[in-house]
Amino acid sequence: MLLLAFETSCDETSVSVIRDGVILANIVASQIALHAEYGGVVPELATREHLKNLPRVSRAAVLEAGIRPTDVEAVAATLGPGLPQALMTGTRFAAAIAMAGRLPFLGVHHHEAHLYSPWISGNPPRADFAEFHPNVSLIASGGHTLLVHVPAELDHRVLGSTLDDAAGECFDKVAKLLGLPYPGGPLIDRLAAEGNPAAHDFPRPLLRDASDDFSFSGLKTSVRYLLHKNPSIASSDAGLRDLCASVQAAINDVLVAKLIHAARRLGVGWVTASGGVTCNRGFRHQLAVQARAAGLKVRLSEPALCTDNAAMVGILAERRFGRGETMSYDEEVRPGWKL
Ligand code: KG4
Ligand code: ZN
Repeated sequence: MLLLAFETSCDETSVSVIRDGVILANIVASQIALHAEYGGVVPELATREHLKNLPRVSRAAVLEAGIRPTDVEAVAATLGPGLPQALMTGTRFAAAIAMAGRLPFLGVHHHEAHLYSPWISGNPPRADFAEFHPNVSLIASGGHTLLVHVPAELDHRVLGSTLDDAAGECFDKVAKLLGLPYPGGPLIDRLAAEGNPAAHDFPRPLLRDASDDFSFSGLKTSVRYLLHKNPSIASSDAGLRDLCASVQAAINDVLVAKLIHAARRLGVGWVTASGGVTCNRGFRHQLAVQARAAGLKVRLSEPALCTDNAAMVGILAERRFGRGETMSYDEEVRPGWKL
């Protein structure tokens, strides 16, 4: 099956072309520079950007894949969760293409798609589902922090989520307190690489809690108090690096420990992770080391596929189409869709 997939749930416009599990193209137009000026994603701007980007990103994907538009046999898009208007641009655009070609259309769940991005690898990239279940998967992005048990393909159960801020939101808010630009995660990652993670002992919220839930707002508040008491901490390069390393270590300790703890409790052999935060080099290293020690195998998305992309949407949709699932062209978007 030759499939065209769309992702527009937040601030990335992405279109992918997939044939039988092989990703022929995965183009992502990021809006980060646009939103950075406002310190976060502005929904109205995101919607306008998607509308502007969709035709040219689609054309680029079809060109890169080396196919003719008329070769496409099915169309998929992210139906939710996400920003309502942003979701509408992608799903309506996708459904219109499907309708014009009388092709099957399917809307998929953005987080379910994240669950499958770690299985995409190789050159050309392809998805290999066979041996990686059961697993426990962490999805950590700017809007969500979810721990999910995936006993088998297309089967999942949410174990826990954040009670307040998402992990990425914590990175971004701490960066803002430090006067660093949005999004804060990549910058903190870079600064932390040369800092001392033991310089400040920040709280590890819910680390020893029996639940699979997360909480990050207290950590951000601790940073705020520390800076209030000692404003000069972040004014030297070394101070800034140490602070970033200490905050990052606190976030990663919680993410890694909870992922591994859930995996051991449920007796799965694999742990996986995706979402923007899982690009973090400290996280990737820490997970690799601690999973090995716990006898667990790790599978991470490559950084380009950790963040939002249409390839993961297409890979999931392909499996669901394979089961005979389709939706009507006027299916409503689902901004608050729970996994
Ligand atoms: O998955 P994503 O691209 O978009 C959604 O939020 O859906 O995730 C973006 C989030 C931002 O909060 C950003 O600061 C964080 O992921 N992030 C990182 C890194 N790269 C992106 N956080 C920590 N370390 C990174 N290297
Ligand atoms: Zn996402």
